[in-house]
Amino acid sequence: MGQNPGPHARVPFNRPYVAPKANEYVGEVLNRGTLGGGTGEFSRRCSELLEHELGVNLVILTASGTAALEACALLLDLAEGDEVILPSFTHPATANAFVRQGASPVFVDIRPDTNNLDERLVAERISSRTRAIVVMHYAGIGCEMVELCSIAERRGISLVEDAAQAIFAAYRGRSLGSFGDVAAVSFHETKNITCGEGGALLVNDTALTAQAEFVVENGTDRRRFLRGEVPAYTWQCLGSNYRISEILGAVLWAQLEERHRLQERRAMLWNRYGVELQDWARLMGMSLPVIPANRTPNHHTFFLRAPDRETRCRLIEHLERMGITATFHYSPLHLSTIGKHAGYRHGDLPVTEQVSATLVRLPLYNGMNREEQDQVIEALASIT
Ligand SMILES: Cc1ncc(COP(=O)(O)O)c(C=O)c1O
Repeated sequence: MGQNPGPHARVPFNRPYVAPKANEYVGEVLNRGTLGGGTGEFSRRCSELLEHELGVNLVILTASGTAALEACALLLDLAEGDEVILPSFTHPATANAFVRQGASPVFVDIRPDTNNLDERLVAERISSRTRAIVVMHYAGIGCEMVELCSIAERRGISLVEDAAQAIFAAYRGRSLGSFGDVAAVSFHETKNITCGEGGALLVNDTALTAQAEFVVENGTDRRRFLRGEVPAYTWQCLGSNYRISEILGAVLWAQLEERHRLQERRAMLWNRYGVELQDWARLMGMSLPVIPANRTPNHHTFFLRAPDRETRCRLIEHLERMGITATFHYSPLHLSTIGKHAGYRHGDLPVTEQVSATLVRLPLYNGMNREEQDQVIEALASIT
């Protein structure tokens, strides 16, 4: 085969889906001429739908998942010297949001089955300075939320969900993002539901809702002003402009209207990988994703675990030669420059290090067709 992808088209890792209605809705926004963020008609519809379907007290659309995480950190009012417990196997955005507020990251290892924060290791890392536990639901498969909520409640610390990958996934029938005091979702182009760049701040703690509206509006009561509740808006607290553009709100609404079909399609593709790759995986010593009981996944990512780093690299290179892009995932944050500066070393979080070295993600996107998926499955089967 060499470098020639053969008669097939390339199979990318991701191809962002654009809902056909997006053009019409964006046109409506442009014609209306109110482009600014957060409180336009489409953004409002998206927020209300998410509040209702996720069972969340308040949803505010943001410019990105990162912006939503930063808003979460501002809402916790962290100070220098505070500690935040979080996984090392996550996007740097999870850590940045809290570290930039002065908090020290306390990295905890992940579970080998779900790649999620290992709830059994959390209590021993809590100190008198711990202010929050930040969980991340890897691949849209929920963390052990009963145990994590109970630890946070018992110890009187905040719980934050990085639900960037987890839109419409659930744990024991309850939506991810509805457990923490606050949570963040991403609508980046790699996510199940996307508007290119976007996110949502989810607020469950009713004591934080007023403050959340300030934080996303540069720390002002601008939303109250827009509702006619105050004669002018003024500076109330620290904040930033975390608003989403109404143009992107329109693109997002077009996708949300199609959410059931998109999620079903993704589930079908994900399940088909699982069935078709079962025998191959056994033969190759690869493991397939595990969905524990009581979890409703959103089929965000289909990942394999190779027996070792060398096999993982060989697999990615083989697929690349066949015109297919598969990819590894997070480099452990505790082994990054900042992690090492905080005192972490190789071997500190063995499961994280092992998963990071051996995980590979296969192409999976809303518009993926059967032929493209066949191409990936056949290419895997041809590895020797
Ligand atoms: C777990 C996690 N957290 C946060 C983010 C940041 O989201 P965004 O790219 O929307 O800023 C991502 C993005 O991929 C992510 O995977």
